Amino acid sequence: MTGVIREVATQPIAGQKPGTSGLRKKVGVFQAAPYLHNFVQAIFDAVPALKGATLVVGGDGRFYNRQAVQIILAMAQANGVARVLVGRDGLLSTPAASHLVRKSGAAGAIILSASHNPGGSNGDFGIKFNAANGGPAPESLTEQMYALTQTLTRYLIADGDDIPLGAAGSFTRGQMAVEVVDPVHAYGELMTSLVDMDAIRAWLADGHRIRLDALHAVGGPYARHVFCDLLGAPADSVVNGVPLENFGDGHPDPNPVYAADLVACMNGPDAPDFAAAFDGDADRNMILGRNCVLTPSDSLAILAANAALIPQFAGTFHGAARSMPTSRALDVVGQAKGFPVYETPTGWKFFGNLLDADRISLCGEESYGTGASHVREKDGVWAALCWLNLLAVRKQSVAEIVADHWAQYGRHYYSRHDYEALPVEGANAIMARLRAALADLPGKRLNGLTVSLADDFSYTDPVDASVSRSQGIRIEFADGSRVVFRLSGTGTEGATLRVYLERFEADPARHSLDTQIALASVIAVAHYLADIVGLTGRTEPTVVT
Ligand code: G1P
Ligand code: ZN
Repeated sequence: MTGVIREVATQPIAGQKPGTSGLRKKVGVFQAAPYLHNFVQAIFDAVPALKGATLVVGGDGRFYNRQAVQIILAMAQANGVARVLVGRDGLLSTPAASHLVRKSGAAGAIILSASHNPGGSNGDFGIKFNAANGGPAPESLTEQMYALTQTLTRYLIADGDDIPLGAAGSFTRGQMAVEVVDPVHAYGELMTSLVDMDAIRAWLADGHRIRLDALHAVGGPYARHVFCDLLGAPADSVVNGVPLENFGDGHPDPNPVYAADLVACMNGPDAPDFAAAFDGDADRNMILGRNCVLTPSDSLAILAANAALIPQFAGTFHGAARSMPTSRALDVVGQAKGFPVYETPTGWKFFGNLLDADRISLCGEESYGTGASHVREKDGVWAALCWLNLLAVRKQSVAEIVADHWAQYGRHYYSRHDYEALPVEGANAIMARLRAALADLPGKRLNGLTVSLADDFSYTDPVDASVSRSQGIRIEFADGSRVVFRLSGTGTEGATLRVYLERFEADPARHSLDTQIALASVIAVAHYLADIVGLTGRTEPTVVT
């Protein structure tokens, strides 16, 4: 099939600025041509290396995924891409896309996902570009794409028929080869090479039960392949495992609020031994045991403390990184074990350089993201596998492993309070108020807590020396407590204020308090400093995790 290549005149569209993780808007915005076309052209213009090279394309299967894939294929052809690898049915989890880029030597990937944001015809859509290392485009590149969207005068597209995506196979679109690939196979092979599959298989054969909740998103096929086909878990171990365009009208975010059914099941009489949930594009994870929901910050610290038990890390653990708002539980492990811990701004893109330079082997974020050097994205299914690896080798329950960890390293009580869909002016006023107060805060005593540090977090990348400023307000207290404030870069409605609260408790006798009660004094100080009620009228957070 040869397609005529057309140059279509277009005009810049305001607001095509990628946020924490790509460009996200309501589906209707993307459906209104040429919104998607303009942004995709900016990608091709910003990454000339795609010409004559391989591109990976896939998404989380949300509403408009299929149509967007066909538009991208037509534009890839027109922009001179030599070969596209696209997941069957247009599906690829974010970590699987990252792996395919690295495995195939592709020049990059276009991933269609708004991650954990709701889908369906009234939900969100998103698009992000991952570079040749398999990781999210660095800020310099996303800035360049944004700049190009603001000067664009034309996009290139080739006429031609849609590529059938329903089965694996090889096709051509003009000069361009299109390979529709099984989305899970290569990923399964990668997982097999990282964790102790035999130990997990034996643990399962011993009668242990697991429950993986894919929240009707793209994680389903990956979980079925890895846990059922490769590890022999019964088919009913995977729930909500068929990807739906509207995620079953749910919110595909694996946290105790949106995966409340799973939490209830794990607190119930017949709870399995282990559970995990994944988000829309299967890069996030929540880990649960019987009567036990882990915070992602603890999960990261515990994996770091036990890295020697996971074949992927055995003998080669270079260090670890956490995003700034993530609790400092990881730091305590790093100090005890003697590995470096890096503190980066929020967003996975900041881990890429550290991973590429072998400075770190493991990294994570408080927002249910955990990952390592096997891909350049966070990886939900992999995180669950690592936990199963620990359970199988340590022969302890999740709750026992967690309690042991806190007894040894102390507990970092941790919670995030989100105030969603705030008027932008109110949210900006809060941040301005906090910034204005920073200089006077150190040394002040507030509600019994003495401020030891107050700043607007700035990060200098130790590998390329690039500087990212204004990454969130950090207020630390002398007793190890901390509050962090930042505005979300992924929301699509108004502004979202995130308040991250943390308190360290060394005494094991005080490790089973209710988290919100344990944090009460820090929460009170956060409200005093930010005047959230006064500036927004909101008395309660929208979501507490
Ligand atoms: C949120 C999370 C952040 C994560 C990002 C993409 O970004 O807080 O840790 O990297 O989603 O999954 P935010 O909305 O806070 O900018
Ligand atoms: Zn995600």
